[in-house]
Amino acid sequence: MRLDLATPEDAPAMASAHAQAFDTPWDEMDFEDLLDGPGIFGFVVRAEDPAGVLVCRTAAGEAEILTVGVAPWARRQGIGKALMVAAIGVARGVGATEMFLEVDVENASAVSLYERLGFERAGLRKAYYDRGSNGRADALVMRLDLTTGPD
Ligand SMILES: CC(C)(COP(=O)(O)OP(=O)(O)OC[C@H]1O[C@@H](n2cnc3c(N)ncnc32)[C@H](O)[C@@H]1OP(=O)(O)O)[C@@H](O)C(=O)NCCC(=O)NCCS
Repeated sequence: MRLDLATPEDAPAMASAHAQAFDTPWDEMDFEDLLDGPGIFGFVVRAEDPAGVLVCRTAAGEAEILTVGVAPWARRQGIGKALMVAAIGVARGVGATEMFLEVDVENASAVSLYERLGFERAGLRKAYYDRGSNGRADALVMRLDLTTGPD
């Protein structure tokens, strides 16, 4: 298992991990374009195959997790946490003082991961996610103070 700071050459591996983790995947070009953007960094985890991906944007002292996902076969082995801890480290290193993310209120595994890292519930965006025939779901906005805490 290897966790690397991503370069545009990692876009295919990132897209592969993302496609395994999400129903609506981002493609290679999405990752290439993103990694070219100002303040953007990402990580990719590889085992035999791409297993996990994270992209974060920092601007004006704030970091935002744009995506984090782990392939189903690689879950519950600490990869999601390792990706988040790595992102928190980089965000702190570039001077960000707080980190935000949005998560489906019903995504218990992700909410648990974030809460264990110290994220707190900062707000709710009603009917934020489109679930097609299953209607819409609320997004929880979560915030981590990067000026305190162990991670
Ligand atoms: C959420 C996700 C990234 C977690 O990745 P992971 O590699 O399985 O997470 P970890 O193994 O690092 O787990 C860390 C902690 O998160 C929590 N957690 C993770 N999966 C969980 C689950 N299925 N149920 C309950 N808690 C869970 C636990 O607190 C866990 O700690 P523990 O294993 O010591 O109990 C992964 O389930 C995923 O990719 N889901 C689909 C995509 C997604 O929802 N991304 C987040 C969008 S905001």
